[in-house]
Formats: sequence, C-alpha cells, structure tokens
Amino acid sequence: MMLPPGAVIGMVGGGQLGRMSAQSAARLGYLVHVFSPEQYGPASQVAARNTVASYDDLDALRRFADEVDVITFEFENLPAASLELLENLKPVRPGARILAISQDRTLEKRFLNDAGIATSHWVKVETLAELEAAVEVLGLPAVLKTTRLGYDGKGQAMLRDPEDLPHAFERLSPKPLVLEGFVNFGMEISVMVARGVDGQVVTFDTVENRHKHHILDLTIAPAPVGSNLLAQAQSIAAVVAEQLELVGLMGVEMFVTAKGELVVNEIAPRPHNSGHWTMDACPCSQFEMHIRAVCGLPLPPAVRHSDAVMKNLIGPDDMALWPRILATPGLIPHHYGKSEARPGRKMGHFNRLFPKGALPGELGIEDALKLTGA
Ligand SMILES: Nc1ncnc2c1ncn2[C@@H]1O[C@H](COP(=O)(O)OP(=O)(O)O)[C@@H](O)[C@H]1O
Ligand SMILES: [Mg+2]
Repeated sequence: MMLPPGAVIGMVGGGQLGRMSAQSAARLGYLVHVFSPEQYGPASQVAARNTVASYDDLDALRRFADEVDVITFEFENLPAASLELLENLKPVRPGARILAISQDRTLEKRFLNDAGIATSHWVKVETLAELEAAVEVLGLPAVLKTTRLGYDGKGQAMLRDPEDLPHAFERLSPKPLVLEGFVNFGMEISVMVARGVDGQVVTFDTVENRHKHHILDLTIAPAPVGSNLLAQAQSIAAVVAEQLELVGLMGVEMFVTAKGELVVNEIAPRPHNSGHWTMDACPCSQFEMHIRAVCGLPLPPAVRHSDAVMKNLIGPDDMALWPRILATPGLIPHHYGKSEARPGRKMGHFNRLFPKGALPGELGIEDALKLTGA
C-alpha cells in the first residue's frame, strides 16, 4: 500500500544518513519524525518532529511508534528488545531479521555463504587458543574483527605475525570475534540496491571506493572495471536483497580480488556513504529510493545521467577547505550540520559530475578535485 503524502515516517537515528533521507522524504510530501539520543543533530535539524531519548527507552519508543505510520532507520545497532517492540506496533522497513543478520558479522557471512555468495574465509573466535587455531587454518595476514558494532575500521586488527595475536586479542576481546582471511584485493567496490514492498528490485551502478585511514575517502561512479564485472556485482547485490526479502535500501560492499573475482565484504541495510554520488548523478538518489521503498511507492529505474566522483569531508582539516569548496566551480557541496569537526568525523561531502562515459583517468580525477577557490 502506498503511503499518501502527509504521512509520517519514523526515522530511528539522527545522523547524516537520516538528514539526507529526511530531505528526500520532504520532497515527496512526507513528514519525518526522528528518534535519536542527540539533541539537534544532523537529521533533527531538517525533520518535522523529534524525539530525544536513548535507544533502549521503551516508553519513548512506544510513544514514537504511536505517532508515525512506518518506521525505518539509519542506525543499525538498535537493541533487539527495542526493535521487537517497534515491530509489534508499526511496519518496520527493513525488518528485524535483516538487522539481526547485518549487526553480526558471523550471521552475515553465514547467510551470504548459504546463499551461494563468496565472502572471505572466516572462523568465529572466542579465546586466544581458538584464535591460534584459526590462524593455523586461515594463515597470515588475517583480519581480526569484533562481530558487532564495528565501523570505519574500528573494532578490527590486522594480524601479520604470530606475535600480533595476543595483543590484538587482548585489545578486541572479551567481545565475540571473527577471524577473516586476508583478501588480496585490487579494488573495493559497492552496489546500492533497493527492493520495494511488491518485490521489485533496482540496483544503482557499481562504484569504486577508496579509503584513507580506514574511512571512505572517494567514490568513483562507475567503477573503472569491465562491464561484466559491473553487472556481476549488481546481480550479487540483487540476490542478497531478494534472499533477505529486503524492503528498503541496502549497500553491498565487495572486494575485486587479484584474479578478478568478487567477494562480498559486508552489507548495510540503509543508505550508505558509497551511495552519496547518486544525490547529484541520478534523477532518483539513494535517499529517495530508500523513502520510496519504505513508503510503498513505485521504484523508478536507478539510472545515472552522469559519471561522478564523491569526496568525503572528514574532520577539521577537510572542513577548513569548505570556503574554497564553495568557491570552486563544478563542486556540489553537502554539509551535514554537525557543530564540531572532530578528527575522523564525517562532516560533509562534495560531488563532481562528468558527462556520462567521460570519467577521466587517475590524473583527470585528481585534477578535477583540485580546489580553485580563493
Ligand atoms: N578480510 C579482509 N581482507 C582485506 N582487507 C580487509 C578485510 N576486511 C576488511 N578489510 C579492509 O578494512 C576495511 C574496513 O573493513 P569492514 O569489514 O568493511 O569494516 P567497517 O565496518 O569498519 O567498514 C575494508 O573496507 C577493507 O579495506
Ligand atoms: Mg565497511
């Protein structure tokens, strides 16, 4: 059923993904009610209504659910009891099962492997002895990660030598851990995929992601790989969305191995940083697609009218460039409204468009990102 304009979308989480979703929702005539512990955060600033409460405040969640027509989230780590309560009161899209899977790296990898999708080789680890045994199986280098609550490279450690094991284990435990075999990748790519209430699936074009200090730095759309690989990545993302019976939007991160094979790294059932290029290079952005899926609207084709490069603006150093970004022709700025630019914090991004099919090579991209402003 299509939610009519004027309906209220409950958004759990108050960060930039909620902000940009709320901006798209407003354009389609919806009101957004943000539930977030943060007073006047990025999403609250642009939302019609706000609840400021903690994610485990069941009374506040109950009142919030009473006041909205459908619930979605931009924050994946909602406590299970909170999610269960919301699901009993209003439609939650995507649903609790998808959240549970994506919150836990071992459930996520098991789900993907059961669906016939390649991931890194992995072993669940709870003790140092288990870690040593897992290293025997997977070899070094390997990546040790907490199964839950990791982001931007937090909650993980690279193991290169046997001597690294005790320290890494000490640092990350007592949380449940997973050891992943190191994937010798040539490129990191991702696909944003949406699935509607009626099961219709659309996938945005496959993009390349480059990280700096474990944080996304650049996204290049489309990824500079052959058309077979681009299509293969999109079909993997579509299979994941179908198998999860997703209603909403999700990002699927993948590695392209040295042999040109695709290995899924992780999934995120929400708008994703690597989809921000769609705001300016597609008639229907990832955020509008998310809102459309959640509200039961038809999903338009996820077409791209331009090639694009997205550059993240992280912390005080990048934000010092804001005036020059505004003064540089061709850069399309997006500010998240955060008051304090702490190091490592995502403050905004800009997109730069190129005619479709005309994405310049390495040097051209570098050149295009140069700031010319005063
Ligand atoms: N098994 C692996 N092999 C090689 N590199 C990895 C592996 N796992 C993670 N990485 C690197 O670390 C980055 C962050 O890991 P990821 O699992 O995506 O965690 P996060 O939740 O922090 O995004 C990846 O984008 C990739 O560059
Ligand atoms: Mg990741």
